[in-house]
This record gives sequence, C-alpha cells and structure tokens, in this order.
Amino acid sequence: MSTKMRCLISREAIARRVTELGEEINRDYAGRDLVMVGVLKGAFIFLADLVRELTFPVEIDFVRLASYGGGTSPSGEVHISKDVELSLKGRDVLIVEDIMDIGYTLSFLKQHLATHLPRSLKICCLIDKRERREIEVPLDYVGFVLEQGFLVGYGLDCGEKQRTLPEIFVIEKG
Ligand code: IMP
Ligand code: MG
Repeated sequence: MSTKMRCLISREAIARRVTELGEEINRDYAGRDLVMVGVLKGAFIFLADLVRELTFPVEIDFVRLASYGGGTSPSGEVHISKDVELSLKGRDVLIVEDIMDIGYTLSFLKQHLATHLPRSLKICCLIDKRERREIEVPLDYVGFVLEQGFLVGYGLDCGEKQRTLPEIFVIEKG
C-alpha cells in the first residue's frame, strides 16, 4: 500500500478564511478582555496567523492535551499535560484548535476550562471533520467543514511529520 498526499486547501484559501475569522472575532470581542487559548501542538500556526488579524489587544496562553492510548484510535480519555498559566477568572476565553474529529478533545477541554470560571468560553476551530463525531460540542467559529480524511500541514501532523507545510494536504492510501 502506498500513500499519496493531495493538496486540499491552498495557502491563499487558508489566508482568506483566517482573515474572515479574524474579522468576525474583531466584531464580536473588540473592547473585551480576551484570552486566546491555543491547543498545542497542532494549533500553533493557526493561532499565530489568527492573532495577527486582530485589531485589539488580546492575551495568549496554551494548553497541551494527551490522550491515553494515543495513535489513531483514541481511547476517549483525554488529560491535560500542560494547563493554562494566566488567570481566566471573569475573562472572555476563546479556545483555538486545529481540528475537531471525534469530539473528545474539545469536549474535555471546554469542561476543564469552565472550572477556571471564565466570563465566557467559546471555540474557534480551523477544521470541523464530521464523519467520526461521537460528541457534539458547538463550534463558535469554524474555518472549514470536511466530511472525512486525514489531514496534514499548517500545524496538523501525522506522527509529528508534515506540520510545517504551508498548505493543508489530505493523505490518500492507494
Ligand atoms: P478528537 O476530536 O478528540 O478526535 O481530537 C481531535 C485531535 O485529534 C486534534 O486536535 C488532532 O490532534 C487530532 N486529529 C484528528 N484528526 C486529525 C487529522 O486529520 N490530522 C491530524 N490530526 C488530527
Ligand atoms: Mg490537537
């Protein structure tokens, strides 16, 4: 079996969509006390591009999550391996994630960050991948909706490889 990579979302299409998401966030949060919480590692490029579209000051923090079992068959048990360091209490918080697949990660993270008592808690996710969804978590800002496929590039990895590609590719097994 060989694997091929096909470009699915070009640099230009990503940049256009990130600009649009930034415009929405500017409209919704201007003048508010916003903390953007990126989910390491996958969201680091998306977050870096998104915050540079913002026209008001925000603070940035990161969490790192790990799922027991790992690999391509997540067990559904997610835990925090690095928590936020800023205080979120009484503040507007926007989670920034690369991709929602089964839903365990964002479901867990939203519940976890709620315990930090933010004033509001929303999610901005670059890709909403629907086929394997088991837990629905409302996504407040979505870049692209996709039915299926394993994606790499623009922060997304396959076993730590291909994160740094500027486009988003789908891996095709043939
Ligand atoms: P889930 O929604 O709990 O399945 O977890 C989503 C996480 O799985 C994401 O943060 C990614 O780390 C990883 N993931 C899911 N689908 C893909 C993909 O197509 N490419 C790369 N990582 C993925
Ligand atoms: Mg991830």
